[in-house]
Amino acid sequence: MKYATMTLIAPLVVTLAGCATPDASDTDALVARYIAQSWLPGDNQPLERLRQDETQMECSKYRNNPPPAVARAIEAREAARIKYPADGKLMGDWKVGEKIAKAGNAMRVGKVEPDDPKRDPGGNCYACHEIDKKEVAAGNLGPSLAGYGKLRGSSDAIVRYTYGKIYNAMAFSACSNMTRFGVHGILTPEKVAHITAYLLDPASPVNR
Ligand code: HEC
Repeated sequence: MKYATMTLIAPLVVTLAGCATPDASDTDALVARYIAQSWLPGDNQPLERLRQDETQMECSKYRNNPPPAVARAIEAREAARIKYPADGKLMGDWKVGEKIAKAGNAMRVGKVEPDDPKRDPGGNCYACHEIDKKEVAAGNLGPSLAGYGKLRGSSDAIVRYTYGKIYNAMAFSACSNMTRFGVHGILTPEKVAHITAYLLDPASPVNR
């Protein structure tokens, strides 16, 4: 492991030391090459996942802080990518949603033994959010969602926002650090609807 890290870093250091002012695009290309070399492609983990789409390229260019006009353009483009369930119901079953929100056991990277590709990916929401306060293993990269539905109610506008946010976070905040679950095919529209119910249903433990 240590040896592998050194072999990756050593040429980079030599290259950077060799020229007083390295050209930024050369450095970017070099970094991209080393990242690609360290990736372990497999089922569900194609190298394709490293290729940035237009939005990610713009976010990288502006270091996740795009000027307002660019941010609005990103949000409009991402909003157009939101898909809705065939039956039009944006609120599913909170009990199913709870299981999906808690499941974080697929599509993991950096493991020598890849995850079983047949494993159904979950949302892994707790990696970044506190949601049900009884669950103590929660991350804090995102805001706490405890009592989410109790605080906001469940008007059509809130249901639509919550569904859309989970499907594609960047439709509402360009360059968000939250995964675009629907866009990347991690969650289907039906799964997003179940999680929407988990956050909004008054009977869900999130709101009790
Ligand atoms: C990689 C970290 C990460 C993951 C995983 C993640 N989120 Fe987020 N989430 C964030 C961040 C950061 C924000 C705040 C920035 C923003 O609004 O985009 C956020 C914001 C939100 C908001 C908006 C809150 C508000 O006050 O309006 C909702 C709702 C939400 N997340 C739900 C979820 C759900 C449900 C999941 C699981 C399917 C999830 N998130 C997974 C990082 C994450």
